[in-house]
Amino acid sequence: MGDFIIETKTLTKSFGKFTAVKDVNLRVPKRTIYGFLGPNGAGKSTTIRMLLDLIKPTCGKVFLFGKDISKHRMEILRKVGSLVESPSYYGNLTAYENLEITRRILQVDRKEIDKALEIVNLSKWKNTKVKGFSLGMKQRLGIAQALIGPRELLILDEPTNGLDPAGVREIRNLILSLPKIMGVTVFISSHILSEVEQIADYVGIIRSGKLLFQGTLNELKARTGTEIVIKARPLEKAQDFIRQKGLEVENREGKLYVSKGNISAEELNRALVLNGFGVSHLRESKKNLEEIFLELTGGGRDAGILSTSKL
Ligand SMILES: Nc1ncnc2c1ncn2[C@@H]1O[C@H](COP(=O)(O)OP(=O)(O)OP(=O)(O)O)[C@@H](O)[C@H]1O
Ligand SMILES: [Mg+2]
Repeated sequence: MGDFIIETKTLTKSFGKFTAVKDVNLRVPKRTIYGFLGPNGAGKSTTIRMLLDLIKPTCGKVFLFGKDISKHRMEILRKVGSLVESPSYYGNLTAYENLEITRRILQVDRKEIDKALEIVNLSKWKNTKVKGFSLGMKQRLGIAQALIGPRELLILDEPTNGLDPAGVREIRNLILSLPKIMGVTVFISSHILSEVEQIADYVGIIRSGKLLFQGTLNELKARTGTEIVIKARPLEKAQDFIRQKGLEVENREGKLYVSKGNISAEELNRALVLNGFGVSHLRESKKNLEEIFLELTGGGRDAGILSTSKL
């Protein structure tokens, strides 16, 4: 099983005729933050429910810590903290009392509660009733709940859903700190790339139930290639000239975007100038991750495996 904390094999879930998750092979290395990305309805929550054995796969298998979840459920889930959809609490109980329930179920030391409250920065609210909490505080309490006990893996389904930008940042920083302070592996889903981009070591991109990409953020970035952005006169003739060189070029709002091909910016600049074009602007730009993500998940293109990881 190697060092993968989560490994799925052809994980598939159908609801009637509809297949929500299809042949998903996740591989999540130990002590990493893995961002599980996909648009609404992509199959993230369904996958997560199968990881936690909340629903049974139609076919395929889930291995956590190298063990088959369907055979070692209790032993495995003790080590897994999770936050699935919006967590529910007893509003009339305090933060501490809510966590006490989890602590009793797991039968761990009381100190675990204080530790978790401190990590999520809720210590000073521990004796406040949860019904007065903001959404961000509730999400933090949900994460605290996931942290209690001998956790080695956290599975968080869209933990920043519904939070304002400050709340998002706070949760992001909190998650980022967890592998260091607790040695845990974090599997976090989101439909917002920028949230994951800043914290994840690995990403898996799912769309229509299929895993389109899995690998490091750098591998994802490397898929982009660079674009050369040019302002040249006369524009249309410059576009034709570049196209004749066998390069792909697009005119977007008066600028030419040259992608693909192995010409350097310098060479292209020289060629344009030598051929009498007036070049007022030329720069290399990496396509940003948002663009790659949208390309992978959006548009009408059918979802095929675009890249598999070398993990
Ligand atoms: N119990 C169910 N019965 C029928 N269809 C379901 C069921 N659960 C999920 N689906 C469908 O499976 C697809 C994937 O849903 P899922 O909740 O996994 O998506 P998601 O990626 O978590 O989306 P979101 O970002 O909106 O949370 C959706 O089309 C959804 O309608
Ligand atoms: Mg979901």
